[in-house]
This record gives sequence, structure tokens and C-alpha cells, in this order.
Amino acid sequence: MSEIPDLPLSELAGPLPRVPRWRTLLGSLAMARQPIRNLDRALSHHGDTVGLHLGGVRPCIVTRDPALAQHILQKNHRRYLKSDLTHGLIRYLGRGLLTNEGADWLRQRRLIQPGFHRQRLAALTRLMQAAAEEWSQDLRARLAAAGGGLTVDIHAEMTRVAFHIIAQATFGTSMTDAERNRLSDILTRIQAFYVRTIRQPYLRPWFTARGTFRQHDALSQELRELVRGYIRRRQAAPGTPASPETAAPFTNNSPPVTPTLPDDLLQMLLDARYEDTGEGMSEEQLLDEANILLLAGHETSANALSWMLYLLARHPEAAAQVRQERAAAGLAQRPPEFAELTQLPYSMQVVQETMRLYPPAWILDRVALEDDEFRGLPIPKGTLFSIYIHGIHRHPGLWPEPDAFRPERFAPGQEPPIPAYAYLPFGGGPRLCVGSHFALTEIQLVLLEALRHFTFAPISEAPAGTDPLITLRPKGPLWLAVSSA
Ligand code: HEM
Repeated sequence: MSEIPDLPLSELAGPLPRVPRWRTLLGSLAMARQPIRNLDRALSHHGDTVGLHLGGVRPCIVTRDPALAQHILQKNHRRYLKSDLTHGLIRYLGRGLLTNEGADWLRQRRLIQPGFHRQRLAALTRLMQAAAEEWSQDLRARLAAAGGGLTVDIHAEMTRVAFHIIAQATFGTSMTDAERNRLSDILTRIQAFYVRTIRQPYLRPWFTARGTFRQHDALSQELRELVRGYIRRRQAAPGTPASPETAAPFTNNSPPVTPTLPDDLLQMLLDARYEDTGEGMSEEQLLDEANILLLAGHETSANALSWMLYLLARHPEAAAQVRQERAAAGLAQRPPEFAELTQLPYSMQVVQETMRLYPPAWILDRVALEDDEFRGLPIPKGTLFSIYIHGIHRHPGLWPEPDAFRPERFAPGQEPPIPAYAYLPFGGGPRLCVGSHFALTEIQLVLLEALRHFTFAPISEAPAGTDPLITLRPKGPLWLAVSSA
């Protein structure tokens, strides 16, 4: 897909400051272990945009300049593609929205995006809430059995909740726990292996010799067959009751969704019709899109949820304010409906501030498809960019006290306003996350469910380390003490 060869850094970085290659080579292990610390160091030393060799070998421009991020993602997006770092996922998960490009991507995006509109989200909210409640009931039972206090790895808990939510939102309520666990396990193993092939490309011959690539191809095949099974079952027996108001049609010429169909994402994919032909997707395309939704909507949300509860454990005053807001809205004793979520702006600010400090998609890749230019900086075809979202979100020139947790930053009317592209947890431009409203709703719902039943406290003063892979995960377990609220 992006068969554009890498350019040497001398051609690629032009007048930009560069980290000398010997330094990136020497530091490649440190960069692999602690990319955030090393990128921050390079950028604060050389300026907001710098040329370096990723892993000591791959010439790349890293930027934390919001204007350049906007140029690439939005203003001049036609000149940029994702790089092979993203396209490599096609081998395991297929060509879905996240990995697709060009006319094919646009056609799919037009088809799928309406499925995430507000009226559909209202229906999905019920599926999300059910999954959140199942988790909280289970944790309450564990707490009771443990005599009222428990230490939990909140990342493991939130990974389970987030997968339950995306699986339930995609396939409805018919999936058993065992099936869901198997899907989650396959996706986790594929992702972990994929990250290794990128981080340690020199191990590829070893993986080939040991059959590790083949094993993961087989896992990917198993995933496809599992998902294919669900699709075929749904096609054979479509109906479980759904409420008429949530079963609205969602493309101009898609057939009306009858009230007997489930309101989940699979049904949305099955019902969607291309505007030009009036036809639906092929089974293979459906499989690709369903896989990509599972992948894109799982780990990102799990990380945001984990970091949010971690931050609230360290900021009990913010947790108290979420509870007060909820009580003031008359929602202390029951879960909110979708339409009531807007009455809880502070809880949304907590979600936003969490993703500023810990953006789950902490870095984005793009490659220049043709020659371009940005404020006098020549950008030759083939230039590889890393848009360093974590660096933008903690840029001292954009955010006062950038490392402090202050949800009020996102309150309406704050001065000075947040500059364009200084906050981009969901990316920007036409490839903005299609699930952004889904994710914000999900995270707000889990936050409210969690604080309705539990109080979280840190078990150590030391800040948790990060493990930036494809997404920004905590390093190791994220232990929190939990008690009843
Ligand atoms: C906190 C949670 C989430 C974060 C931080 C997040 C972040 C992102 C970002 C930054 C992108 C753009 C990638 C790029 O431009 O290279 C993206 C794309 C995407 N996301 Fe999300 N995402 C989240 C949740 C979700 C959920 C819940 C879903 C699905 C239900 C989803 C589905 C997608 C898809 C399909 C794309 C590709 C869109 C396209 O290129 O047309 N994401 N996401």
C-alpha cells in the first residue's frame, strides 16, 4: 500500500535540526524501552520538530508542533498516507477503516460513519451500560467476599470491561463469556506479536524460522472464522426485539431497519448500503470492518479507563466533584440515560483531561505521498512523520502546568482557548476516529458506574510508568485499593 521507499535523513529533514545518527543508534535500546522520555528529551533540546532515526535505522521526522499536525492530518491530508507501520496490520486483521486508504477507504467511511450518529449511540448506550453494570456487580461480589477491601489491577479490570463493551456493542448480547474471552485473547496475542515485529525488526528472520509468523496467521484465521460464524448466525436468524425509536434508518438509501433487528454495530454493518450501487458489503469486507472495530475500540478505551481511575484515585477531590455533580442532577441512585449525560459536564472534563495526560493513541504515523512544503520546510515525497500526540498534549507552550491534572481546563469559556490541534486524542481531519463519540460515552458511563459503587485509592506514592506500544498502556499491573463508596 505505501510502497514509498524511506529517504535518507539528509534529504528528508532539510533545514530541520537532527539528532545525529550515532546518537539514535546508541540510544536505540533506551528509545525502545522508554520512547516517551527519549522523544521528550530530543524535542526539548532541538525544538518542536526534529529529524531522527527511529530505532537507530529508520529516518523520520517527529513533531509536537500542532500547526504541522494540522497541516498533515487536515489541511493537506491528501498528500499523506498512513505508513507501513499501520498497514502491516492488514496481514492479521484485514483492510478495514483504520488500515484502508484512498477511494476504497472513503467509500467505506461514508458507509459506516452514519452508524455512529447520535441516534444510534443512544441504543448502543444501553448495551454499554449493561456491560459496565455486569462488571460492577462482579467487583461488588468480590469485595463482599474479601470483607470490604480489595487491591485490584485496574488495567486488567478495565481491559475486560472495554472488551465486553465493544464485543457487546458489535455483536449484541448473544456472545458467551468463553467466546468473548477467546476473541480478546486472540486480538491481544496478535497485537503483542505485531508490536514486537515493529520494535525489533531484526528478529523477523528468527520469527520466520521458528514459525511464529505462521502461528499468528493461524490465530488471525481463527479470529476470522469466529467472526464469520457470528455474521452467518445473524443473517440466518436476525431478530431480537429492539425499540422502534432506536431503529432509525441511517443512510439515505439504506432500507429502513425494522424494529425486530438488534441495535448493534454488526447489524449496522449488515444493513448499510453503498449509495452508488444500493448493495451491501461482501462477507470479506464485513469481516475486515468488524475485526478493525474490535481492535480499534478495545485497547484505546481500556487504557483511557485505566488512567482515568488511576488519576481519580490520586485526586479524590475530583472524584468528589463527579459525585456531587451527579447528585445535583438527581442521578445519584441510577445510571444516566444517554440524553442525561450532557447534564454532567464535569465528568466529561475528567475524561478529556485524562486523555490529554495519557492519550491512548499517543503517536500517529504518516508518510508523504508527494512533495509538499510547510512554512518553508521542504517535505520530499517519502518523508515519514511521527505526530507525537503525547508531546503536543504536554507541551509547556500550549498548556500551563502541563503535567498537572486539572479537568477544569476543558470547562466552557476557559481563557485562553485551547489552540487548534493542541488537543487531538482522536486524531484529526477526515481520518478522525469514527468511534470518538462512542468512546466518550462509554468512558463517561463506566466512570459514573465505578464512582457510584466504589472508592479508589493509590497503593503507592510513586507515579505509574507507561508502556507505549500501539497504545499508551500502563507498565505492568496498575494496582489500586478499592472499597465500597
Ligand atoms: C479512547 C478511545 C479511543 C481513542 C483514543 C481513539 C483514537 C483514535 C485515533 C487517534 C484515530 C486516528 C488514527 C490515525 O489518524 O492514524 C482513530 C481511528 C479510528 N478509530 Fe478510534 N479511538 C478510540 C476508540 C474507538 C472506538 C470505541 C472505536 C469503534 C467503536 C474506534 C474506531 C476507530 C476506527 C474504525 C478508526 C479509523 C477511522 C478512519 O480512518 O476512517 N475507536 N481512533
